[in-house]
Amino acid sequence: TTTISPLIAGNWKMNGLRASLEEISALASLLTTGEAPRALVVVCPPATILHAVASSGATSGILAGGQDCHPAASGAHTGDISAGMLADAGAQFVIVGHSERRTQHGETDELVRAKAEAAMGAGLKPIICVGETESERDSGEAESVVARQLAGSIPDAGGQHEVIVAYEPVWAIGTGRTPTNEEIARMHASIRQHLVERFGEPGQTTRILYGGSMKPMNAREILSLENVNGGLVGGASLLAKDFYTIISAV
Ligand code: G3P
Repeated sequence: TTTISPLIAGNWKMNGLRASLEEISALASLLTTGEAPRALVVVCPPATILHAVASSGATSGILAGGQDCHPAASGAHTGDISAGMLADAGAQFVIVGHSERRTQHGETDELVRAKAEAAMGAGLKPIICVGETESERDSGEAESVVARQLAGSIPDAGGQHEVIVAYEPVWAIGTGRTPTNEEIARMHASIRQHLVERFGEPGQTTRILYGGSMKPMNAREILSLENVNGGLVGGASLLAKDFYTIISAV
């Protein structure tokens, strides 16, 4: 895993108005005054400020990403945003299949895969999210659930295009709880094995991010685990100071 450059992505979810661009400026100055970060830095803000984030972050190396995209390129889909539109607004990444989309919008693995395909078609790198619920973990199904999600959500072209996998145990999201280091390492190893079995060589270098209550306090430990190639950060990405601490923990 030492050959994989780490990536830290912030998922702002439905938080952030134009005023939040101040956090981007603050993050930009932290990134440019301090030691250059080892990690690629991505911020996925709400779509309304995506273009502003992409343009104001550009000079300091902050990359922008969307939080979701529609599988179609264009058409009669009121309220939806295509991958091409995200790219047009300056995004280089897009999160697909976040558990909040899967539960609140009934997204299936099949739909997530179609979205990831649309993302790749538009030149975006999809950040494909997987993760078990608490009851699935309690009943010992965590690895099989994640394996099923990986098989169904990652496009077959995942070996030729750059995809990123994010492991986000649902019960760790926004709860302040995280799996143990052993649990994280075991799941990431099993995801790595899936990627290598399915894609061969490219599966060795696919980034596997951890997400779920990653904070300044626990980031260094989690990010040092085998097969953890970065993080997908929710709450702690909203404040530049905290997000920068996590970025610097790599
Ligand atoms: O996508 C990141 C997210 O689901 C994790 O959220 O607030 O637990 O860091 P949080």
